[in-house]
Amino acid sequence: MPGKIFTISQQKGGTGKTTLAAHLAICWSVLDGKSVAILDTDPQGSLGEWLETRERCLGEEGTGLGFRTASGWGARREARSLARDFDVVIIDTPPKAETEVKPALEAADLVVVPLQPTPMDLWATEPILRV
Ligand SMILES: Nc1ncnc2c1ncn2[C@@H]1O[C@H](COP(=O)(O)OP(=O)(O)O)[C@@H](O)[C@H]1O
Ligand SMILES: [Mg+2]
Repeated sequence: MPGKIFTISQQKGGTGKTTLAAHLAICWSVLDGKSVAILDTDPQGSLGEWLETRERCLGEEGTGLGFRTASGWGARREARSLARDFDVVIIDTPPKAETEVKPALEAADLVVVPLQPTPMDLWATEPILRV
């Protein structure tokens, strides 16, 4: 059975997508002993930067997470390919709700939409829920 794919998405920036992706990856891999891959589809690349920093600081202990990047329709293909090899695949996405993030949403078993408790975050959530 393929692994589960979780996509973290929200068109507003700064709501905690990348932070949540990193925390979930560590939670499932270190605490639960699952094999976990992260797929960064945000060209900003903060999740990859976080992973490299982790590996630099912890050495071998910090490795063990699968990591790939993808953009556009490639995200769906890459996520499904990772799900054949890992128990859990976590997709981080750019702050958008347009066609660009659709493949990452289509690939997901569950889409997680983080938001801060503000009206503006709530309004920004509507387009992603529609997609
Ligand atoms: N649960 C949280 N509580 C407090 N601060 C948070 C939380 N999640 C993220 N942050 C902070 O909010 C900022 C934006 O987070 P980030 O994960 O980069 O958001 P996004 O990927 O949606 O742009 C960062 O400074 C991060 O440390
Ligand atoms: Mg981010």
